[in-house]
Amino acid sequence: MALFRSSTRTIPASPEVPRHIAIIMDGNGRWAKQRLLPRIAGHQRGVETVREMVKTCRQLGVEYLTLFAFSSENWRRPADEVSFLMQLFLKMLEREVSKLHENNVRLKIIGDLSRFDEQLRQYITDAEKLTSANDGLTLTIAANYGGRWDIMHAVEGLWKAHPEMQGNFAEEDLEPYLSMHYAPEPDLFIRTGGEQRISNFLLWQLAYTELYFTEILWPSFDRAALEAAIQSYQKRERRFGRTSEQLTENQS
Ligand code: IPE
Ligand code: IPE
Ligand code: MG
Repeated sequence: MALFRSSTRTIPASPEVPRHIAIIMDGNGRWAKQRLLPRIAGHQRGVETVREMVKTCRQLGVEYLTLFAFSSENWRRPADEVSFLMQLFLKMLEREVSKLHENNVRLKIIGDLSRFDEQLRQYITDAEKLTSANDGLTLTIAANYGGRWDIMHAVEGLWKAHPEMQGNFAEEDLEPYLSMHYAPEPDLFIRTGGEQRISNFLLWQLAYTELYFTEILWPSFDRAALEAAIQSYQKRERRFGRTSEQLTENQS
């Protein structure tokens, strides 16, 4: 049985403060370039923003924060940038996990981890295990993640477990095999850095998510910018396929 209501089969609640915020953290390279710094300096500063977002989301009562850190297509970048990003990820895990644990944060990593080296994979397993019982914010980092990979991987998982379902399965059969099965679908999606695209992030899960794009580059994104995104979300009318009139009738 699915843990959360699917937006295509039932109508989920639309909480005032989004329960789940998913963010494409974009613009690190341009932030650095504007300051005549190497791109990696932008990634380094981006980690500061991650810290601030985790803190702010905890304070605001957001239950799930999902951050896109490395896409399945980011391997196409120059080898030294890729290797710097991997090192940064490992260092972040080493440095931050105990703090996250102290703050009751549950850490999850989603994506195809098979391409990561053994040391990194071990850190991920340990960090998830250590924080698994925490019931404050759930922080998910998407690393070597791709929305299409997620769906293909789920289909593979379902068919392995239930060969009889090949060619004959429903959305709810597949959902437990998707990488974010433990979370409700995002209420609010934010992309910093000005691009207006999904870049193969959570394709399945964003079906009815409110989308918000901002020009602010990730290292400059701060609490006020997050609050502005939430305010924009609060003004939206989430219809999930219904008419506006139906919503007004339901309220009266
Ligand atoms: C986002 O910033 C971080 C990653 C994709 C890892 P970018 O590195 O894409 O920054 P821009 O888009 O080049 O400015
Ligand atoms: C998306 O950013 C991926 C992450 C933020 C991890 P990109 O900068 O890689 O996206 P594109 O290539 O501009 O679409
Ligand atoms: Mg980019």
